[in-house]
Amino acid sequence: MPKAARRTFVLVTTPVALVALIGAAAPAATGSKGVGDPYFPLAGNGGYHVEHYDLTLGYDPGTRHLDGKAVLTARATQRLTRFDLDFKGLTVTGLTVGHAKAAFRRDGQELVVTPRRALSKGERFSVTVTYKGKPGPVKDPDGSLDGWIPTDDGAFVAGEPQGAMTWFPANNHPKDKSSYDFTITVPKGRTAVANGVLRSQRTTHGKTTFRWRQSEPMAAYLATATVGKFKVEQFTTRDGIRVYNAVDAREAAAAAPVLKKLPSVLEWESKLFGRYPFRAAGSIVDHAPNVGYALETQSRPVYDRAPDLSTLVHENAHQWFGDSVSLTSWKDIWLNEGFATYAEWLYAEQHGGDSAQKAFDDLYAKPASDELWEFPPGDPGSGGNIFGTPVYARGAMTLHVLRTTVGDRAFFGILRAWAGGHRDGHGTTAQFERLAEKVSGKKLDGLFKTWLYTPGKPNRP
Ligand code: ARG
Ligand code: ZN
Repeated sequence: MPKAARRTFVLVTTPVALVALIGAAAPAATGSKGVGDPYFPLAGNGGYHVEHYDLTLGYDPGTRHLDGKAVLTARATQRLTRFDLDFKGLTVTGLTVGHAKAAFRRDGQELVVTPRRALSKGERFSVTVTYKGKPGPVKDPDGSLDGWIPTDDGAFVAGEPQGAMTWFPANNHPKDKSSYDFTITVPKGRTAVANGVLRSQRTTHGKTTFRWRQSEPMAAYLATATVGKFKVEQFTTRDGIRVYNAVDAREAAAAAPVLKKLPSVLEWESKLFGRYPFRAAGSIVDHAPNVGYALETQSRPVYDRAPDLSTLVHENAHQWFGDSVSLTSWKDIWLNEGFATYAEWLYAEQHGGDSAQKAFDDLYAKPASDELWEFPPGDPGSGGNIFGTPVYARGAMTLHVLRTTVGDRAFFGILRAWAGGHRDGHGTTAQFERLAEKVSGKKLDGLFKTWLYTPGKPNRP
């Protein structure tokens, strides 16, 4: 339409018609492309909460091809004319919102969805995405790989902090927690292990389908669908927890004596931290030499090799600290890693090893130039530092200083109140500080300021 004509049109429009026109072109209401995490600005998305993910996957380790269908049940937290999912790599072959086809485009890790009609605030809606391709990992700021990591007989699947989006479309930030169903089909002879309880396993026409359910809320980064040739062991603990261990034959001999201790480790941790948070537990011991870490995938940690006992204690302590009680920001990562590391110290102390004091003293003896003092654990400074030594070791040292300051009774009371009070939810460092002060009746701001936030080696406490 030529400019002049349009001007004429507006000029002849009555005020009533103008109002109608504006109403028809209601303001765009787009969900933000991140949840505002300073370390990972594109992680997660604004405008909705995912209640449930229903993932149907088929994986062929031979060709490394994945077929996927994700059905997300979500609720809009604002009016939405458009929203994003995090999804990187794989080809999207179809997308519907409710029953209607929706327009979408890819923009880096953002899958931008425009539903046919706007979603109203509070509305419950479903998004179905079908997809396919050869998934691969993302490279994290520290150079490590996470996401779908192919192995010689399947895939090691671990998503901290970003990798979930390499294998399913997600609201990929721990702020958003959801329940999950997984239906995974692999060639007969391979095992697909996800989170939660195994609901069924069926083999037909040379393929086996595993159905898993993670009922308690889970952050996307803690989801797994690890595939391999595994030996499987299943049993129920005295506390009624369903244990499923899957072990690569090449790691079986080394893993066996450690996995045998899992029930007693879970019992010990439950005594210390409060009731185990999930109905399922276990281990996935893969043979993945290119990975270099284990991850506390919810209800069932995944290990890149046979773990030692300390690592088993660490990953299972994360079930309370990190999995059940989730971060709201990656900056608070010491709430995960400092706590899981301190659990290792406590385990050693109570099982004939070094005392936590000895572990603390050995670290404290390190010179001011050591990487341990490179940055303060409460403020790692960037996503590249979240798995750095200070987060784990000085994070644990912070808890030890807290313990010696408030005494054992208050300290273990704080740990239990933290895990119990934030169960299936979230916690921030500020909330932990307030809780510690409340339980101990002591003013602790100086302690946390020094140990969590002040650069350099602190004075001896
Ligand atoms: N949270 C894991 C642990 O138990 C470490 C994960 C490391 N992830 C990575 N992408 N480097 O300590
Ligand atoms: Zn850890």
